[in-house]
Amino acid sequence: MHDHAILAGKRILLVIAGGIAAYKSLELIRRLRERGASVRAILTKAGAQFVTPLSVQALTEGTVYQDLWSLTDESEMGHIRLSREADLVVVAPATANLLARMAAGMADDLAATALLATDKPVLVAPAMNVRMWLHPATQANMALLAARGVTRVGPNDGDMACGEFGPGRMAEPMEIVDAIAAHFAAQSVPKPLAGKRALVTSGPTHEPIDPVRYIANRSSGKQGHAIAAALAALGAEVTLVAGPTRLPDPPGCAVTHIESAREMLTACMAALPTDIAVFAAAVADWRVKGLSERKLKKDGNAPPALELTENPDILATIAGSGALRPALVVGFAAETGDVVEYARAKRARKGCDWIVANDVSPGTTTFGGDDNAVHLIRADGVEDWPRMGKDAVASRLADTIAAHFGATHFQGKTP
Ligand code: CTP
Repeated sequence: MHDHAILAGKRILLVIAGGIAAYKSLELIRRLRERGASVRAILTKAGAQFVTPLSVQALTEGTVYQDLWSLTDESEMGHIRLSREADLVVVAPATANLLARMAAGMADDLAATALLATDKPVLVAPAMNVRMWLHPATQANMALLAARGVTRVGPNDGDMACGEFGPGRMAEPMEIVDAIAAHFAAQSVPKPLAGKRALVTSGPTHEPIDPVRYIANRSSGKQGHAIAAALAALGAEVTLVAGPTRLPDPPGCAVTHIESAREMLTACMAALPTDIAVFAAAVADWRVKGLSERKLKKDGNAPPALELTENPDILATIAGSGALRPALVVGFAAETGDVVEYARAKRARKGCDWIVANDVSPGTTTFGGDDNAVHLIRADGVEDWPRMGKDAVASRLADTIAAHFGATHFQGKTP
Protein backbone atom coordinates (compact mmCIF):
# COMPACT_ATOMS: atom_id res chain seq x y z
CA MET A 1 0.00 0.00 0.00
CA HIS A 2 1.51 3.30 -1.03
CA ASP A 3 1.31 6.50 0.98
CA HIS A 4 -1.88 8.20 -0.16
CA ALA A 5 -0.89 11.60 1.28
CA ILE A 6 0.80 12.17 -2.06
CA LEU A 7 -2.66 12.47 -3.68
CA ALA A 8 -3.44 15.77 -1.96
CA GLY A 9 -3.83 18.54 -4.53
CA LYS A 10 -3.41 16.20 -7.52
CA ARG A 11 -5.72 16.75 -10.48
CA ILE A 12 -7.17 13.60 -11.99
CA LEU A 13 -9.05 13.47 -15.27
CA LEU A 14 -11.20 10.34 -15.03
CA VAL A 15 -12.57 8.82 -18.22
CA ILE A 16 -15.51 6.50 -17.53
CA ALA A 17 -16.25 4.21 -20.45
CA GLY A 18 -19.15 1.83 -20.88
CA GLY A 19 -18.85 -1.26 -18.73
CA ILE A 20 -20.68 -2.76 -15.80
CA ALA A 21 -17.60 -1.86 -13.70
CA ALA A 22 -18.45 1.84 -14.15
CA TYR A 23 -20.31 1.73 -10.84
CA LYS A 24 -16.95 1.15 -9.13
CA SER A 25 -15.70 4.40 -10.64
CA LEU A 26 -18.18 6.29 -8.49
CA GLU A 27 -16.49 4.80 -5.44
CA LEU A 28 -13.10 5.64 -7.01
CA ILE A 29 -14.09 9.32 -7.25
CA ARG A 30 -15.03 9.33 -3.55
CA ARG A 31 -11.79 7.65 -2.46
CA LEU A 32 -9.68 10.05 -4.52
CA ARG A 33 -11.46 13.11 -3.23
CA GLU A 34 -11.23 11.89 0.38
CA ARG A 35 -7.45 11.94 -0.14
CA GLY A 36 -7.45 15.52 -1.37
CA ALA A 37 -7.31 14.91 -5.12
CA SER A 38 -9.68 16.76 -7.45
CA VAL A 39 -11.48 14.76 -10.10
CA ARG A 40 -12.89 15.92 -13.42
CA ALA A 41 -14.86 13.30 -15.31
CA ILE A 42 -15.53 12.48 -18.92
CA LEU A 43 -18.40 10.04 -19.34
CA THR A 44 -18.72 8.25 -22.68
CA LYS A 45 -22.08 7.63 -24.28
CA ALA A 46 -21.82 3.95 -23.36
CA GLY A 47 -20.62 4.86 -19.86
CA ALA A 48 -23.81 6.85 -19.36
CA GLN A 49 -25.74 3.60 -19.87
CA PHE A 50 -24.21 2.31 -16.64
CA VAL A 51 -23.91 5.35 -14.38
CA THR A 52 -25.87 8.57 -14.59
CA PRO A 53 -24.21 11.92 -15.34
CA LEU A 54 -25.95 13.21 -12.24
CA SER A 55 -24.19 10.73 -9.92
CA VAL A 56 -20.83 11.56 -11.46
CA GLN A 57 -21.55 15.27 -11.21
CA ALA A 58 -22.63 14.99 -7.58
CA LEU A 59 -19.52 13.06 -6.60
CA THR A 60 -17.01 15.19 -8.51
CA GLU A 61 -18.85 18.40 -7.62
CA GLY A 62 -18.13 19.59 -11.13
CA THR A 63 -19.35 19.43 -14.67
CA VAL A 64 -19.47 16.01 -16.29
CA TYR A 65 -18.00 16.28 -19.76
CA GLN A 66 -19.86 14.12 -22.26
CA ASP A 67 -20.10 15.63 -25.67
CA LEU A 68 -17.35 16.65 -28.04
CA TRP A 69 -19.73 18.92 -29.90
CA SER A 70 -21.55 20.47 -26.98
CA LEU A 71 -21.19 24.22 -27.26
CA THR A 72 -21.37 24.62 -23.52
CA ASP A 73 -18.58 22.13 -22.89
CA GLU A 74 -16.47 23.71 -25.60
CA SER A 75 -17.10 27.25 -24.44
CA GLU A 76 -16.46 26.45 -20.80
CA MET A 77 -13.47 24.27 -21.51
CA GLY A 78 -12.25 22.88 -24.80
CA HIS A 79 -11.18 19.26 -25.00
CA ILE A 80 -7.55 20.29 -25.35
CA ARG A 81 -7.57 22.22 -22.09
CA LEU A 82 -9.55 19.48 -20.41
CA SER A 83 -6.92 16.92 -21.38
CA ARG A 84 -4.01 19.10 -20.29
CA GLU A 85 -5.28 20.54 -17.03
CA ALA A 86 -4.68 17.31 -15.17
CA ASP A 87 -1.70 15.67 -13.56
CA LEU A 88 -2.85 12.19 -14.60
CA VAL A 89 -5.52 10.79 -16.89
CA VAL A 90 -7.19 7.66 -15.52
CA VAL A 91 -9.41 5.49 -17.73
CA ALA A 92 -11.66 3.35 -15.54
CA PRO A 93 -13.27 1.23 -16.75
CA ALA A 94 -11.15 0.97 -19.89
CA THR A 95 -13.23 -1.11 -22.27
CA ALA A 96 -11.88 -3.20 -25.15
CA ASN A 97 -13.45 -0.66 -27.49
CA LEU A 98 -11.83 2.38 -25.90
CA LEU A 99 -8.41 0.62 -25.69
CA ALA A 100 -8.72 -0.18 -29.41
CA ARG A 101 -9.61 3.42 -30.21
CA MET A 102 -6.70 4.67 -28.10
CA ALA A 103 -4.28 2.27 -29.81
CA ALA A 104 -5.51 3.37 -33.23
CA GLY A 105 -5.30 7.05 -32.32
CA MET A 106 -8.96 7.71 -33.03
CA ALA A 107 -10.77 10.87 -32.03
CA ASP A 108 -14.38 9.91 -32.54
CA ASP A 109 -15.80 11.10 -29.23
CA LEU A 110 -14.77 13.37 -26.38
CA ALA A 111 -13.01 10.59 -24.41
CA ALA A 112 -10.91 9.40 -27.37
CA THR A 113 -10.15 12.97 -28.44
CA ALA A 114 -9.00 13.98 -24.97
CA LEU A 115 -6.83 10.84 -24.76
CA LEU A 116 -5.27 11.68 -28.11
CA ALA A 117 -4.77 15.34 -27.27
CA THR A 118 -3.33 14.87 -23.81
CA ASP A 119 0.33 15.37 -23.00
CA LYS A 120 -0.15 13.86 -19.54
CA PRO A 121 0.54 10.31 -18.34
CA VAL A 122 -2.34 7.85 -18.76
CA LEU A 123 -3.28 4.96 -16.45
CA VAL A 124 -5.89 2.44 -17.62
CA ALA A 125 -7.98 0.02 -15.55
CA PRO A 126 -9.26 -2.50 -18.11
CA ALA A 127 -12.61 -4.18 -17.56
CA MET A 128 -14.19 -6.60 -19.98
CA ASN A 129 -15.18 -10.19 -20.60
CA VAL A 130 -12.29 -12.63 -20.18
CA ARG A 131 -12.32 -13.68 -23.86
CA MET A 132 -12.29 -10.06 -24.95
CA TRP A 133 -9.32 -9.37 -22.66
CA LEU A 134 -7.39 -12.44 -23.83
CA HIS A 135 -8.18 -11.81 -27.50
CA PRO A 136 -4.98 -11.17 -29.45
CA ALA A 137 -6.45 -7.90 -30.71
CA THR A 138 -6.89 -6.52 -27.18
CA GLN A 139 -3.53 -7.89 -26.06
CA ALA A 140 -1.84 -6.28 -29.07
CA ASN A 141 -3.61 -2.97 -28.39
CA MET A 142 -2.56 -3.08 -24.74
CA ALA A 143 1.05 -3.93 -25.65
CA LEU A 144 1.13 -1.02 -28.09
CA LEU A 145 -0.27 1.36 -25.49
CA ALA A 146 2.22 0.06 -22.89
CA ALA A 147 5.08 0.65 -25.32
CA ARG A 148 3.85 4.23 -25.63
CA GLY A 149 4.02 4.61 -21.87
CA VAL A 150 0.40 3.96 -20.88
CA THR A 151 0.38 2.19 -17.51
CA ARG A 152 -2.18 -0.29 -16.32
CA VAL A 153 -3.77 -1.57 -13.15
CA GLY A 154 -5.55 -4.94 -13.32
CA PRO A 155 -7.61 -6.55 -14.65
CA ASN A 156 -8.09 -9.07 -11.87
CA ASP A 157 -9.12 -12.70 -12.05
CA GLY A 158 -12.59 -13.41 -10.82
CA ASP A 159 -16.23 -14.16 -11.51
CA MET A 160 -17.55 -11.86 -14.15
CA ALA A 161 -20.92 -10.25 -14.60
CA CYS A 162 -21.34 -12.39 -17.74
CA GLY A 163 -20.96 -15.62 -15.72
CA GLU A 164 -17.46 -16.52 -16.91
CA PHE A 165 -14.33 -16.70 -14.81
CA GLY A 166 -10.87 -15.31 -15.53
CA PRO A 167 -8.95 -12.07 -15.98
CA GLY A 168 -11.17 -9.16 -16.96
CA ARG A 169 -12.61 -7.77 -13.73
CA MET A 170 -11.70 -4.16 -13.19
CA ALA A 171 -9.26 -3.58 -10.32
CA GLU A 172 -11.00 -2.58 -7.10
CA PRO A 173 -11.27 1.19 -6.42
CA MET A 174 -8.64 1.04 -3.67
CA GLU A 175 -6.24 -0.84 -5.96
CA ILE A 176 -6.69 1.94 -8.52
CA VAL A 177 -6.12 4.58 -5.82
CA ASP A 178 -2.97 2.69 -4.85
CA ALA A 179 -1.75 2.57 -8.47
CA ILE A 180 -2.39 6.32 -8.80
CA ALA A 181 -0.44 6.97 -5.58
CA ALA A 182 2.37 4.71 -6.88
CA HIS A 183 2.46 6.75 -10.08
CA PHE A 184 2.92 10.03 -8.20
CA ALA A 185 5.39 8.44 -5.75
CA ALA A 186 7.50 7.17 -8.67
CA GLN A 187 7.45 10.66 -10.20
CA SER A 188 8.83 12.23 -7.04
CA VAL A 189 11.69 9.70 -6.76
CA PRO A 190 14.99 10.96 -8.16
CA LYS A 191 15.90 9.29 -11.46
CA PRO A 192 19.59 8.42 -11.18
CA LEU A 193 19.31 5.92 -14.05
CA ALA A 194 17.69 8.37 -16.50
CA GLY A 195 19.35 7.99 -19.89
CA LYS A 196 20.53 4.44 -19.11
CA ARG A 197 19.20 1.42 -20.97
CA ALA A 198 18.68 -1.89 -19.18
CA LEU A 199 17.89 -5.45 -20.24
CA VAL A 200 16.31 -7.82 -17.71
CA THR A 201 15.40 -11.49 -18.18
CA SER A 202 12.78 -13.09 -15.97
CA GLY A 203 10.70 -16.21 -15.45
CA PRO A 204 11.21 -19.76 -16.62
CA THR A 205 11.63 -20.97 -20.17
CA HIS A 206 9.47 -23.67 -21.72
CA GLU A 207 11.31 -26.14 -23.89
CA PRO A 208 8.97 -27.98 -26.24
CA ILE A 209 9.01 -31.80 -26.44
CA ASP A 210 6.28 -31.96 -29.08
CA PRO A 211 3.46 -29.59 -30.04
CA VAL A 212 1.64 -30.13 -26.72
CA ARG A 213 4.29 -30.95 -24.12
CA TYR A 214 7.18 -28.99 -22.70
CA ILE A 215 9.90 -29.05 -20.04
CA ALA A 216 9.63 -26.21 -17.52
CA ASN A 217 10.69 -25.17 -14.02
CA ARG A 218 9.02 -23.55 -11.04
CA SER A 219 10.33 -20.01 -11.49
CA SER A 220 7.54 -17.49 -10.89
CA GLY A 221 9.33 -14.51 -12.45
CA LYS A 222 8.59 -12.41 -9.35
CA GLN A 223 12.22 -11.42 -8.72
CA GLY A 224 13.04 -10.56 -12.33
CA HIS A 225 9.83 -8.61 -12.90
CA ALA A 226 10.43 -6.67 -9.67
CA ILE A 227 13.96 -5.80 -10.82
CA ALA A 228 12.68 -4.55 -14.17
CA ALA A 229 10.11 -2.36 -12.38
CA ALA A 230 12.70 -1.07 -9.88
CA LEU A 231 15.16 -0.09 -12.64
CA ALA A 232 12.35 1.63 -14.56
CA ALA A 233 11.32 3.48 -11.39
CA LEU A 234 14.86 4.91 -11.20
CA GLY A 235 14.49 6.21 -14.74
CA ALA A 236 16.16 3.46 -16.79
CA GLU A 237 14.68 2.55 -20.15
CA VAL A 238 14.00 -1.14 -19.51
CA THR A 239 13.44 -4.03 -21.90
CA LEU A 240 12.15 -7.07 -20.03
CA VAL A 241 12.44 -10.41 -21.81
CA ALA A 242 10.00 -12.63 -19.97
CA GLY A 243 9.34 -16.34 -20.11
CA PRO A 244 5.83 -17.66 -19.43
CA THR A 245 4.62 -16.34 -16.06
CA ARG A 246 1.29 -15.45 -14.49
CA LEU A 247 2.50 -11.94 -13.70
CA PRO A 248 1.24 -8.75 -15.30
CA ASP A 249 3.81 -6.76 -17.28
CA PRO A 250 5.62 -4.44 -14.86
CA PRO A 251 4.85 -0.74 -15.28
CA GLY A 252 7.07 1.40 -17.43
CA CYS A 253 8.93 -1.46 -19.18
CA ALA A 254 8.90 -2.65 -22.78
CA VAL A 255 8.18 -6.38 -22.48
CA THR A 256 9.03 -9.12 -24.98
CA HIS A 257 7.29 -12.40 -24.20
CA ILE A 258 9.14 -15.55 -25.24
CA GLU A 259 8.88 -19.25 -24.45
CA SER A 260 12.16 -21.06 -25.11
CA ALA A 261 15.79 -20.31 -24.22
CA ARG A 262 16.68 -19.81 -27.85
CA GLU A 263 13.86 -17.28 -28.27
CA MET A 264 15.09 -15.55 -25.11
CA LEU A 265 18.59 -15.24 -26.55
CA THR A 266 17.27 -13.77 -29.81
CA ALA A 267 15.11 -11.25 -27.93
CA CYS A 268 18.04 -10.29 -25.67
CA MET A 269 20.40 -9.77 -28.59
CA ALA A 270 17.77 -7.58 -30.27
CA ALA A 271 17.58 -5.42 -27.12
CA LEU A 272 21.33 -4.58 -27.20
CA PRO A 273 23.10 -2.25 -26.84
CA THR A 274 22.24 -1.52 -23.22
CA ASP A 275 24.24 -0.16 -20.28
CA ILE A 276 22.89 -2.69 -17.81
CA ALA A 277 21.85 -6.34 -18.14
CA VAL A 278 20.36 -8.38 -15.30
CA PHE A 279 19.78 -12.07 -15.96
CA ALA A 280 17.20 -13.22 -13.45
CA ALA A 281 15.50 -15.82 -15.65
CA ALA A 282 15.63 -19.49 -14.74
CA VAL A 283 16.66 -20.58 -18.21
CA ALA A 284 16.32 -24.30 -18.91
CA ASP A 285 19.82 -25.70 -19.29
CA TRP A 286 18.67 -28.29 -21.80
CA ARG A 287 16.15 -28.66 -24.56
CA VAL A 288 14.93 -31.77 -26.34
CA LYS A 289 17.06 -32.76 -29.25
CA GLY A 290 15.14 -33.47 -32.43
CA LEU A 291 11.89 -31.77 -31.41
CA SER A 292 8.92 -33.82 -32.62
CA GLU A 293 6.69 -32.00 -35.13
CA ARG A 294 3.85 -34.34 -34.17
CA LYS A 295 2.47 -35.28 -30.79
CA LEU A 296 4.31 -38.31 -29.37
CA LYS A 297 1.89 -41.25 -29.09
CA LYS A 298 1.81 -44.27 -26.78
CA ASP A 299 2.57 -47.26 -28.92
CA GLY A 300 2.34 -50.00 -26.29
CA ASN A 301 6.08 -50.40 -26.20
CA ALA A 302 8.70 -48.58 -24.18
CA PRO A 303 8.13 -44.88 -23.38
CA PRO A 304 10.00 -42.53 -25.70
CA ALA A 305 13.53 -41.67 -24.68
CA LEU A 306 14.10 -37.91 -24.61
CA GLU A 307 17.56 -36.96 -25.73
CA LEU A 308 18.60 -33.56 -24.40
CA THR A 309 20.98 -31.04 -25.82
CA GLU A 310 22.41 -27.94 -24.14
CA ASN A 311 20.74 -24.56 -24.54
CA PRO A 312 22.77 -21.46 -25.28
CA ASP A 313 23.94 -19.72 -22.12
CA ILE A 314 22.37 -16.28 -22.59
CA LEU A 315 24.27 -14.61 -19.75
CA ALA A 316 27.65 -15.99 -20.87
CA THR A 317 26.91 -15.13 -24.52
CA ILE A 318 26.05 -11.51 -23.75
CA ALA A 319 28.84 -11.11 -21.18
CA GLY A 320 31.22 -12.23 -23.92
CA SER A 321 29.74 -10.17 -26.71
CA GLY A 322 32.68 -7.79 -27.05
CA ALA A 323 31.74 -4.33 -28.20
CA LEU A 324 28.05 -5.05 -27.55
CA ARG A 325 28.67 -6.11 -23.94
CA PRO A 326 26.65 -4.00 -21.49
CA ALA A 327 28.86 -2.03 -19.09
CA LEU A 328 27.37 -3.84 -16.11
CA VAL A 329 26.33 -7.51 -16.40
CA VAL A 330 24.58 -9.06 -13.41
CA GLY A 331 23.85 -12.77 -13.19
CA PHE A 332 21.90 -14.85 -10.72
CA ALA A 333 22.96 -18.08 -9.12
CA ALA A 334 20.59 -20.56 -7.56
CA GLU A 335 22.51 -22.81 -5.23
CA THR A 336 21.67 -25.41 -2.62
CA GLY A 337 24.79 -25.30 -0.45
CA ASP A 338 28.17 -23.52 -0.41
CA VAL A 339 26.20 -20.68 -1.97
CA VAL A 340 28.90 -18.00 -1.97
CA GLU A 341 31.67 -20.40 -2.99
CA TYR A 342 29.79 -21.70 -6.04
CA ALA A 343 28.55 -18.24 -6.97
CA ARG A 344 32.08 -16.80 -6.95
CA ALA A 345 33.18 -19.51 -9.36
CA LYS A 346 30.10 -18.86 -11.51
CA ARG A 347 30.90 -15.14 -11.67
CA ALA A 348 34.32 -15.87 -13.09
CA ARG A 349 33.14 -18.65 -15.40
CA LYS A 350 30.32 -16.64 -16.97
CA GLY A 351 32.25 -13.41 -17.27
CA CYS A 352 29.70 -11.26 -15.43
CA ASP A 353 30.47 -8.35 -13.12
CA TRP A 354 28.14 -9.20 -10.26
CA ILE A 355 26.26 -12.29 -9.14
CA VAL A 356 23.15 -12.23 -7.00
CA ALA A 357 23.30 -15.60 -5.28
CA ASN A 358 20.32 -17.16 -3.60
CA ASP A 359 19.84 -20.31 -1.63
CA VAL A 360 17.10 -22.42 -3.19
CA SER A 361 17.50 -25.40 -0.85
CA PRO A 362 14.25 -27.21 -0.03
CA GLY A 363 12.41 -25.29 2.70
CA THR A 364 13.69 -21.83 1.70
CA THR A 365 10.61 -21.13 -0.53
CA THR A 366 12.74 -18.78 -2.65
CA PHE A 367 11.32 -20.37 -5.79
CA GLY A 368 7.78 -19.08 -6.18
CA GLY A 369 7.75 -17.36 -2.76
CA ASP A 370 7.67 -13.64 -2.02
CA ASP A 371 10.91 -13.42 -0.02
CA ASN A 372 14.53 -13.85 -0.90
CA ALA A 373 17.80 -13.96 1.04
CA VAL A 374 20.66 -13.10 -1.28
CA HIS A 375 24.37 -12.43 -1.35
CA LEU A 376 25.73 -9.85 -3.77
CA ILE A 377 29.06 -11.05 -5.11
CA ARG A 378 31.35 -8.51 -6.72
CA ALA A 379 35.02 -8.53 -7.65
CA ASP A 380 35.89 -6.80 -4.41
CA GLY A 381 33.76 -8.71 -1.93
CA VAL A 382 30.49 -10.20 -0.84
CA GLU A 383 27.52 -8.46 0.77
CA ASP A 384 25.06 -10.64 2.68
CA TRP A 385 21.64 -9.06 2.48
CA PRO A 386 19.03 -9.96 5.12
CA ARG A 387 15.97 -11.95 4.07
CA MET A 388 13.47 -9.48 2.61
CA GLY A 389 10.66 -9.25 0.09
CA LYS A 390 11.55 -9.70 -3.57
CA ASP A 391 10.42 -6.11 -4.21
CA ALA A 392 12.88 -4.90 -1.54
CA VAL A 393 15.69 -7.01 -3.05
CA ALA A 394 14.83 -5.46 -6.41
CA SER A 395 14.94 -1.86 -5.19
CA ARG A 396 18.14 -2.45 -3.25
CA LEU A 397 19.75 -3.96 -6.35
CA ALA A 398 18.51 -1.04 -8.47
CA ASP A 399 19.90 1.42 -5.91
CA THR A 400 23.23 -0.43 -5.89
CA ILE A 401 23.33 -0.29 -9.70
CA ALA A 402 22.53 3.44 -9.64
CA ALA A 403 25.26 4.02 -7.04
CA HIS A 404 27.68 2.06 -9.21
CA PHE A 405 26.99 4.23 -12.23
CA GLY A 406 27.10 7.36 -10.06
CA ALA A 407 30.55 6.34 -8.82
CA THR A 408 31.94 5.16 -12.18
CA HIS A 409 30.63 8.35 -13.75
CA PHE A 410 33.33 10.17 -11.80
CA GLN A 411 35.98 7.48 -11.56
CA GLY A 412 35.53 5.94 -14.99
CA LYS A 413 36.19 2.39 -13.82
CA THR A 414 34.29 -0.80 -13.07
CA PRO A 415 34.62 -2.46 -9.66
N1 CTP B 1 21.53 -18.34 -17.56
C1 CTP B 1 21.35 -17.92 -18.86
N2 CTP B 1 21.22 -18.86 -19.86
C2 CTP B 1 21.27 -20.17 -19.58
C3 CTP B 1 21.42 -20.59 -18.26
C4 CTP B 1 21.56 -19.65 -17.28
O1 CTP B 1 21.31 -16.72 -19.10
N3 CTP B 1 21.12 -21.03 -20.56
C5 CTP B 1 21.72 -17.33 -16.51
C6 CTP B 1 20.60 -17.21 -15.52
O2 CTP B 1 19.65 -16.26 -15.90
C7 CTP B 1 21.35 -16.81 -14.26
C8 CTP B 1 22.63 -17.57 -14.37
O3 CTP B 1 22.85 -17.74 -15.76
O4 CTP B 1 21.66 -15.43 -14.26
C9 CTP B 1 22.51 -18.89 -13.69
O5 CTP B 1 23.46 -19.74 -14.18
P1 CTP B 1 23.32 -21.33 -14.22
O6 CTP B 1 24.52 -21.86 -14.86
O7 CTP B 1 22.01 -21.75 -14.77
O8 CTP B 1 23.37 -21.64 -12.78
P2 CTP B 1 22.32 -22.14 -11.79
O9 CTP B 1 20.94 -21.98 -12.29
O10 CTP B 1 22.65 -21.39 -10.55
O11 CTP B 1 22.59 -23.67 -11.66
P3 CTP B 1 23.85 -24.65 -11.93
O12 CTP B 1 25.03 -24.03 -11.28
O13 CTP B 1 23.40 -25.88 -11.30
O14 CTP B 1 24.00 -24.77 -13.42
